[in-house]
Amino acid sequence: MSFYVTTPIYYVNAAPHLGHAYTTIAADVLARHHRQRGEEVFFLTGTDEHGEPVADAAHALGVTPQELADRNSERFRALAPRIEATNDFFIRTTDPQHMKVVQDILTRVREAGHVYMGKYEGWYCPKCADFKAENEVEEGERCPIHHVQLTREQEDNYFFALSAFQEPLERLYAEQEDWVVPRTRYNEALSFIRSGLRDVPLSRHKLTWGVPVPWDPEHVFYVWFDALLNYYSALSYARPDADLTSTFWPADVHLIAKDILRFHTVYWPALLMAAGIELPRRVFVHGYLLMDGEKMSKSLGNVLDPFEVIDRFGADALRFYLLRDVSFGQDGSVSTASFEQRYESELANDYGNLASRTIAMIVRYRDGALREGPLDSTLAGDFDGLGERVGVLLDEVELTGALEEIWTRVRRLNRYVEEQAPWKLAKDPARADDLDRVLRTLAEGLRVVSVLLHAYLPDSTERLLAALGAPDTALARAGFGEGEVGQVRVLEPLFPKQDTTETTATPA
Ligand code: MSP
Repeated sequence: MSFYVTTPIYYVNAAPHLGHAYTTIAADVLARHHRQRGEEVFFLTGTDEHGEPVADAAHALGVTPQELADRNSERFRALAPRIEATNDFFIRTTDPQHMKVVQDILTRVREAGHVYMGKYEGWYCPKCADFKAENEVEEGERCPIHHVQLTREQEDNYFFALSAFQEPLERLYAEQEDWVVPRTRYNEALSFIRSGLRDVPLSRHKLTWGVPVPWDPEHVFYVWFDALLNYYSALSYARPDADLTSTFWPADVHLIAKDILRFHTVYWPALLMAAGIELPRRVFVHGYLLMDGEKMSKSLGNVLDPFEVIDRFGADALRFYLLRDVSFGQDGSVSTASFEQRYESELANDYGNLASRTIAMIVRYRDGALREGPLDSTLAGDFDGLGERVGVLLDEVELTGALEEIWTRVRRLNRYVEEQAPWKLAKDPARADDLDRVLRTLAEGLRVVSVLLHAYLPDSTERLLAALGAPDTALARAGFGEGEVGQVRVLEPLFPKQDTTETTATPA
């Protein structure tokens, strides 16, 4: 079995912010989970470096586009390990190998008769690097996303004959209802297709910062076609000694936010059809992280700096917060206050305290060595089918739903401690067997939730599982009673109390 997951490749005209970290974290949870299943995984992220926004930003800073791309690409590359993202490759669209694949595939598309020279006139947003349809344009000829003034552009461009793919796309949507998820996004994409597709520019004449069109070097490819092809090109050169295409293509899931829906759910499949390449299995569209009700974005200036949050609370806490507080697939507001609250009540108390208490009791009452014997069957019942359920939800990219399933069991374990009051059992030598059973059950419950939480909280679960003497994170052993807890060792608090008087991150 193989599993291939991607994030969008991020624009290098600005530094990474929490919105970018969000998608990369989500993709990482999937990648880690599939590795825990024992599958061969490829997780791709990277940077989108060509096009007008980058050229303009570089110009404004007085540096070359390549210098700006090098500088900011490095910041995105550095973000990945800070959020514990285990991407298998980091693609840059300025990689010569990528550029060559773009040229080859788009030449093939032209040779198949899907490209022609035409004139384009329309409203153009330099920030989106995209032309806007008349009915999208905001009052005062402004961009509906960035609210900046649009420009009227006219160019002789090569066109991609998107309109010819109307029918094949409608068929794709009819045959594969989970091709775009969630359903609202599927409907949105389908209604855009049904409203009638128009051909789209494939090249830009005036620009020079892009992949040259091989049959007409006065042009560069329109940045979106260059960018989308990263998902395919990366596999051919990510490993110097092997072409991974046949192992991992088609991609299992492209994760994106709704801002780039149309490119991924209309242009991208049409382009692949035109090139005769198999389509990815699914596009999952998540919502926006909002601050003060507006999409967090660099151009609006309302961003949280993920590096600052991580410095204070750790990467695990950030990963947890984003996937727990905002239902994955929907928009959601984030704030320092709600972050601190989740950290305190769920990570520090529900999980961190449960771990410390359980381990402390095993060490105090049994010198860290649990005796073999039966587990509590009521609790075993509450864990029944949990691993399978989490797997099914994650197959549907229900990251928040899967986390909630696990957290329900974390809470169950907390109640179990209160119900059984092991500290009382410890006072009564006649109840030694009961105490053994309760401690064993607690340790096993902690082990199971930690294996399942590992994809979300890689660092803290690893520390906890090591303290339990049960470092194996394979999902094959995630069933209650299917693993073995070894010699238990004292554990430093997983989520130490934080001084919450000081503000972590404020709007920029
Ligand atoms: N370069 C294009 C994508 C090309 S993919 C072939 C691009 N880049 S971007 O830097 O603007 O990144 C957009 C993506 O970043 C979103 O689709 C989403 O994954 C993530 N996000 C950026 N801001 C976000 C929020 N405020 N909320 C949620 N996701 C956010 O578009």
